[in-house]
Amino acid sequence: MRIPRKMEHVHHALQLGQSGLNGFDDIKLIHNCLPDTSLERIALQTRIGELTLSSPIIINAMTGGARETEEINRELAIAAREQGLAMAVGSQMAAIKNPEVAASYRIVREMNPNGIVFGNLGSEATLEQALQAVDMLRADGLQIHLNVMQELIMPEGDRVFTGMLERISRIVSEVGVPVMVKEVGFGMARESAEALIAAGVQMIDIGGTGGTNFAAIENARRDSALDWLNDWGMKTSIALLEVLEAARRTGTDRVDVIATGGISNALDVCKALVLGASGVGMAGALLRTLRTQGTEALIRHIETLHDDLRLLMTALGAGTVTALHRVPVVITGENAVWCQARDID
Ligand code: FNR
Repeated sequence: MRIPRKMEHVHHALQLGQSGLNGFDDIKLIHNCLPDTSLERIALQTRIGELTLSSPIIINAMTGGARETEEINRELAIAAREQGLAMAVGSQMAAIKNPEVAASYRIVREMNPNGIVFGNLGSEATLEQALQAVDMLRADGLQIHLNVMQELIMPEGDRVFTGMLERISRIVSEVGVPVMVKEVGFGMARESAEALIAAGVQMIDIGGTGGTNFAAIENARRDSALDWLNDWGMKTSIALLEVLEAARRTGTDRVDVIATGGISNALDVCKALVLGASGVGMAGALLRTLRTQGTEALIRHIETLHDDLRLLMTALGAGTVTALHRVPVVITGENAVWCQARDID
């Protein structure tokens, strides 16, 4: 039997791994030898849109839609519950088209009745489908993913990308829960973010390169060679700077920005927050721990990320995520050149 596409994604994501070239090496934190903090008073809570999260780390959208993915979602949801993380499911379109597979998504809510859970659909979704996706999970928020390059590389992928903003705008105003628009790992530019903000979007996940690479994954699934697209996109740190600039330029402080793409340690989490992100998403690195070492190891992995983040916040003199936004930072290398070329402050 053919392996379902969802499991192929899991398999190839693990097989190909993460390049780690997420751009954060160019972001230099400045040591503070008079931090005026104490470790036990560090608070990890953050606000994104109307939601309060007890950790800035989000288990980002991965899977659902097939039997084996139900097991993965169950274990991710247990880890999310144990460590108080928000979690998104993978695209629910499979369950909207075939309600028999809805259980593979619902398991996330069953395992974590009181946690923050995001639904997930692509930008082809209608308002009706968005309402169904939210209802399926009693979701606290809905992610809408943008993955144009992945679709174009996928043989069975979409070829028509019209009307995306109009559908997103309608969903944002009528779905009844906060909406986060996210890239899946090609990054987001200032201009796209400005258009989303104008359409009413208040949460953006910049999903940059350096981690799970959907160009490489789709190329690994097909015979023809579009491998020359494997480096397409913007590094996570650069996409983050782009989208934060869009938020500044549109003069709104109501946009919360999430950084995803190759985040695998607390230093990168911390750097993203210092640059101005309100949270970070992690997918591939957490999936790897789960699949290679199991659920207990995943729970310990997240605990260590939290401990390490508290240590860094203590050293930087920032007791909260908001205080991290005020910590000075130096942007060097490719990131600095990019900021200059794109007139980013
Ligand atoms: C994903 N991702 C994803 N995103 C989305 O919005 N809907 C989806 O269905 C999926 N599916 C999916 C499957 C698998 C196996 C992985 C690893 C990832 C993308 C994910 O949310 C994230 O944006 C990228 O993986 C980049 O983050 P990492 O993996 O570099 O931390």
